[in-house]
Amino acid sequence: MSEAYPRAISGERAGLWRRPDGLRSRGAEGRIGRGPGYTPVVEARERGTKGWFVTLEGPDGSGKSVQSERLRAAAAAAGHDVVLVREPGGTAGGERVRAILLDAGPVGIRLTQRTDALLFNAARAQLVDEVIRPALRRGALVISDRYADSTLAYQGCGGQLPLDELRSVVGFATGGLRPDRTILIDVPVEVGLARKTAAETTRFEAHFDRAFHERVRAGFLSFAAAEPERWVVVDGTAPADDVFAALWGVLAGIPGLGPRLAGRLAAAPAGDPGRGAERTPG
Ligand code: TYD
Repeated sequence: MSEAYPRAISGERAGLWRRPDGLRSRGAEGRIGRGPGYTPVVEARERGTKGWFVTLEGPDGSGKSVQSERLRAAAAAAGHDVVLVREPGGTAGGERVRAILLDAGPVGIRLTQRTDALLFNAARAQLVDEVIRPALRRGALVISDRYADSTLAYQGCGGQLPLDELRSVVGFATGGLRPDRTILIDVPVEVGLARKTAAETTRFEAHFDRAFHERVRAGFLSFAAAEPERWVVVDGTAPADDVFAALWGVLAGIPGLGPRLAGRLAAAPAGDPGRGAERTPG
């Protein structure tokens, strides 16, 4: 690990992040999930998949979007093939679906919870087929700002749709593609919502009450607790640089990926502009 980046598990030692069950990494490669997050129909690491799939989840205003961009930049500066996507969206078709889903404007489209669930998963299916699977096949690190767990937390826990039915929808949309690691950036509801400006406020923050968002947060935490081999929980109320350090530590701890990132950092020339720029990320 380069000194430009924090040590892999320093965040955990500092109490900044933790595995939900307090365990150290046990490695996610090849595991079949048994927790409530997904229908365990397909192995996490599919035959022929060379890349790594990392998802960031969290309540609104948890800082995922800023942090996932910082991770992308840092991994790219380390010389890694890295693809950052966001949900809903990430493809031409998916961005159109996003506009329907998130529009809080005067048009006032009325969508039910089930319609939300299907639209989020329509955008997700396109993203998986068009971007994520091809990138994983060629060996890239794919970072997704939200993924299937958001449907389970928002439409399932928040919207109170049956989780088992949503898991079927998600399984169909993704073809069973599961992340190697999922990082929950956890913040209390009032902290997250207060961070959003009026311009950033979507239908979700505008139309759903505090209890909805509390259920979303509790849902994420319960998923993390139930499937600790996949999830890592990071304290999103910490200073942004510390959160980034913890996230980078999680990437560096992923079997197979971490040594590549560290090795490439060590091999990068001292004057590498990308690397230099990452000394003070964000
Ligand atoms: P966005 O502006 O991207 O917010 P954030 O930066 O917090 O991700 O809006 C995404 C919103 O959509 C957010 O409120 C969570 C919600 N959402 C769902 O309800 N279900 C889903 O499956 C996904 C992916 C997102």
